[in-house]
Amino acid sequence: MSSKTLKLTDPAVGKSVDLPVLEGTMGPPTVDIRKVPKELGHFTYDPGFAATAACKSSITYIDGDQGVLLYRGYPIEQLAERSSFIEVAYLLINGELPNGSQLGEFQNEITYHTMIHESMKSFIEGFNYDAHPMAMMVSGVGSLAAFYHDSLDMNNPEHRQLAAVRMIAKMPTIAAACYRRSIGWPYSYPKNSLNYTERLLHMMFSVPAEPYEVSPVAAKALDLLFILHADHEQNASTSTVRLVGSTGANPYASISAGIGALWGPAHGGANEAVLRMLNEIGDVSNVGKFIERAKDKNDPFRLMGFGHRVYKNYDPRAQIIRKACHDVLNELGISDPLLDLAMKLEQIALEDEYFVSRKLYPNVDFYSGIIYKALQIPTSMFTVMFAIARTAGWVSQWLEQHVSEDARIGRPRQIYTGVTERDYQSLDQR
Ligand code: CMC
Repeated sequence: MSSKTLKLTDPAVGKSVDLPVLEGTMGPPTVDIRKVPKELGHFTYDPGFAATAACKSSITYIDGDQGVLLYRGYPIEQLAERSSFIEVAYLLINGELPNGSQLGEFQNEITYHTMIHESMKSFIEGFNYDAHPMAMMVSGVGSLAAFYHDSLDMNNPEHRQLAAVRMIAKMPTIAAACYRRSIGWPYSYPKNSLNYTERLLHMMFSVPAEPYEVSPVAAKALDLLFILHADHEQNASTSTVRLVGSTGANPYASISAGIGALWGPAHGGANEAVLRMLNEIGDVSNVGKFIERAKDKNDPFRLMGFGHRVYKNYDPRAQIIRKACHDVLNELGISDPLLDLAMKLEQIALEDEYFVSRKLYPNVDFYSGIIYKALQIPTSMFTVMFAIARTAGWVSQWLEQHVSEDARIGRPRQIYTGVTERDYQSLDQR
C-alpha cells in the first residue's frame, strides 16, 4: 500500500483531513474516506456506488476500459478455453488452480452433497405450477438454512466451507426441481456418475419412461457459460450477498438475497429480457425502430444485453459467447434466425453515435440466451442458469468476507430530504 495521501479541506470550518490513498496490486488508486465523517463532519454521496470500493478482494479483477476480466489473475479467455466450471469454482474459493488430487477431492465433495432433503419436494410442490423458477429459487435456497441449522456457526471455518460446498452442489438439484415443477414432471435425482453440467441437464430433461443421453456438446457449452458467469467482482448480487453476510446472517439467507438481486432485468434477468426483446423485434426490418426507441429518453425501452457499469469496451465474456453461439448452433445443426437478428442489432448499434458515444457494447447476456435456447433451456430458466454459475463467486466472496480484517456490518448513510422536526397533531387538528 502507498503512503500517498490526498488532502480534503472544508474552508467553512477551516479544517483539513489527509486521506490515505490505497493501492491494490492492479487497478486505480482508491481514496480511503473513512476519516471524513469523524474529522470533517461530512458524509460522501455516491448513489449506485459507482465510485466506491466497499471491500478489498483478491478474487476477481476487471479493467472495464480495456475489456479485461481475470479470476485470481487468470484471463477469462484462457479459463474459458482450457478449464472447467468445477476447476474454476475451486480456483475462486481457494485462490489457486487445483492439482489432480485436489480437483478429484473437490469434485467428490461436490458430488457427495448433490441431494436435497426429501421434504424440499413438498416445499416446491407448494408453488403454483406457473410460479417463476427464480421465485422458487429465492425461497428454495433460503430454506436450506432450515435443514442445516446444526452447521450454521459462521465463526467456524469448517461450517463455512461445508455451506459453500453444499450450495454449489445443491443449486442444480433445486433448479431442476423448480423447472420440473413448472412442467408437471416428476422430480429427478442427481446422477453422480455424471459431471456437474451433465448432471444438471440430466436432472432437467430425463424422464422415467425412457433413457436419456446427455449431449456432450450441450454439457460443454453449459460448462463454458458457467465459467464465464462464475464471478464478476462486486456486482449488485455479490454486493447483496456481502451486505447480508456482513450482518452475520447465514450463507443460505445471504445467497438467497443474492439470487433476488440477480433476478432484476438490469442484472442477471437481462438474458431472459434479451430473448424476449429479440422475439418482440421479430425481424431484421424492425431493428431500426427498436434502436430509435432505445435512444428515446421518453421511452423506458433499453436495448437489453447492451451496456455495463464497468465495461466501457466490448465485454470479454460477450466476445467468447458470441463465438460459442456460432459453434454450438453449428455443432447441434441448428439455424436460429434470432442469431442473425442479434448480429444485425449489434452491428447497427455499434455504428450508431448514441451507443458509440456512451460506450455501450454487448454484454455477457446479449448472446447467452441464444445458446440456452439452442440447448432447449426454457427462457424462464435463463437467469436460474446464471444463478447456478454465480454461486461459485458468491460463496467465494462470502468466504473471503468472513476472514477480512476490514469486515464491518454494511450500513450506508443518506442525505435526508424529508420535512424537518415537527410536533404531532391529534386527529381533530389535521
Ligand atoms: N440501451 C439504451 N441506452 C442505454 C443502455 C441500453 N441498454 N444502457 C445504458 N444506456 C444509456 C443511459 O440511458 C445513459 O444515457 P445518458 O447518459 O444519456 O443518460 C448512459 O447510457 C449511461 O447509462 P447508465 O444507466 O448511467 O449506466 P449504468 O452503469 O447505471 O447501467 C446497465 C448499466 C447495465 C444497468 C445499463 O447499461 C442497462 O440497463 N443495460 C441493459 C440491461 C442489461 O443488459 N443488463 C446486463 C448487465 S451485464 C450482466 C449482469 O450484470 O448481470
